Amino acid sequence: MSTHAFQSMAAAVGRDPAVPLSKNTHLLKWVEKMARLTLPAATHWVDGTKAEFDALCAQMVEGGSLIKLNQELWPGCYYARSDPSDVARVEDRTFICSYSKEAAGPTNNWEDPYKMRRKLKELFGGAMRGRTMYVLPFSMGPVGSPIAKIGVQLTDSPYVVASMRIMARIGLPVIAEIDKGEKRVVPCMHTVGSPLGPGQRDVPWPCNEEKYIVHFPETREIWSYGSGYGGNALLGKKCFALRIASNIARDEGWLAEHMLILGVENPQGEKTYVTAAFPSACGKTNFAMLIPPAGFEGWKVWTVGDDIAWLKPDAENCLRAINPEAGFFGVAPGTSWKTNPNAMATLSRNTIFTNVALTPEGGVWWEGMTDEPPEECLDWQGRRWTPRIAAETGAKAAHPNSRFTAPAAQCPTIDPAWEDPEGVPISAIIFGGRRASTMPLVYQAFNWSAGVYLGATIGSEMTAAAAGVVGKVRRDPMAMLPFCGYHMGDYFRHWIRMQRALSETPRIFQVNWFRKNADGEFLWPGFRENMRVLKWIIDRAHGRAVGKESPIGWVPRYEDIEWRGLDFPRAQFQKLQAIDRQAWRLEVLNHEELFIELHDRLPPETVYERELLICRL
Ligand code: OXD
Ligand code: MN
Repeated sequence: MSTHAFQSMAAAVGRDPAVPLSKNTHLLKWVEKMARLTLPAATHWVDGTKAEFDALCAQMVEGGSLIKLNQELWPGCYYARSDPSDVARVEDRTFICSYSKEAAGPTNNWEDPYKMRRKLKELFGGAMRGRTMYVLPFSMGPVGSPIAKIGVQLTDSPYVVASMRIMARIGLPVIAEIDKGEKRVVPCMHTVGSPLGPGQRDVPWPCNEEKYIVHFPETREIWSYGSGYGGNALLGKKCFALRIASNIARDEGWLAEHMLILGVENPQGEKTYVTAAFPSACGKTNFAMLIPPAGFEGWKVWTVGDDIAWLKPDAENCLRAINPEAGFFGVAPGTSWKTNPNAMATLSRNTIFTNVALTPEGGVWWEGMTDEPPEECLDWQGRRWTPRIAAETGAKAAHPNSRFTAPAAQCPTIDPAWEDPEGVPISAIIFGGRRASTMPLVYQAFNWSAGVYLGATIGSEMTAAAAGVVGKVRRDPMAMLPFCGYHMGDYFRHWIRMQRALSETPRIFQVNWFRKNADGEFLWPGFRENMRVLKWIIDRAHGRAVGKESPIGWVPRYEDIEWRGLDFPRAQFQKLQAIDRQAWRLEVLNHEELFIELHDRLPPETVYERELLICRL
């Protein structure tokens, strides 16, 4: 950092940022050791204040890595363009380095931890030269919550620091927690892997072609090299809150899941919370922010989280959930005032946009945001884009994985209890995927172990199916395939065991909004109308709706669904709910695809549930 930049930062935060904010000797020693390894030009302890955030953003604007949007249109908002090679999570460069390969299981990339440590030492050696190393303390979950966990990320990316201030609780309150010395701190090392030589000019988005996203589950460590983007770099999210936390959760008897959390309030004021796991691109954020349709006057859906849930039995053995995050890192394309007005309201201020398009007025745009595209704009790589260019070349203005990073507190439907340190009580767990055929709109598993089997076998079409043609289904157990930090078979076993810790198990359901007819048209309108399915789920969880027995589970009859406000023919509902025994036999055979790889560690319940299902079919 230049002397000028250093002085203006010191003036903005009213202190010397290099002076440690913590008294924890373990932390101080580790920070020193990592500085000796990575050789940054300066160290900055992050206090998490608004003044510091503003100063960091101002510095990035000056350096050309951030653009301040038109503040009248987009107050408090900034815009970043990543390097075109650094636009998404890199699953093939993501490693679980447990002591034994077996412990990581066949669904994870594994490398010998000793070898990996040697490699990382080499990569991180001098990697922060010419940059500032930020010491970023963060809490996943409300600070002080018994369910929350603490990490400290060392990073040379100010963009990551600014984004983490939205996505997690950071800074001084977390340091106070660390200094109590009661909680284990997860060390998270991160560099963009792009050291600067003396006088070398920086690029807007430094990164490295070589990438390593590494987890050491036994020692609870994360090392991330070469990327500045999303889940690769905001280490609290996928790396900590899912991959490392799934290991902690197994050891401590709880669940770290890729799930949204929402609360449904009926006109009588009764509130019921559910969680839901869908693989990517299946509408999790939309479902978390659902607005009830016509016919549901007096009903309200409250948002607790849109991506991750930590579920833990409380003192009464009731399963309670917290959202460990504080913001939404949402996919921008497709988000609009029509599809998700709550998300649009949330991202209207204090948001960092990455890889969307920049309009001439200093605003942002992405495909699907408005019916009419802007006449022209700069695309996510800074090139001129017009609807005509798009028609001729197919160029997208926004990258398909472009994102908004927005504070959850700004969501109009954020639940009053979203920061309750004890979490919210969970009555139902929903699994879903994108399936053109076979899967009914909704069914309920017969019991907990059947529900675990249901979650373990969910799949989603990898690509949008052409009209009438069924796409290839990828199995994505509990939507955790890229995020479970240990052997999937052990993970199913852990799920099965959780039943013993609970006084009452949440009811488990599968939903599918995407079933199509023979002409390739969706049978279900989706979006707000999903409320009708949600109501049946909640009524079932409270034991006050009828479920008809079917070979796969309990299903609603036409008259069990609330149809007020929607003219939906009985025959269409029957198509949606049809259980084709032939297709289901094939479906169960396909479950083998994943199970065969995991078979030596599968809990016996998965085998029995499968046999029972086959018998019933
Ligand atoms: C996400 C994902 O970014 O699941 O949330 O990939
Ligand atoms: Mn996700």
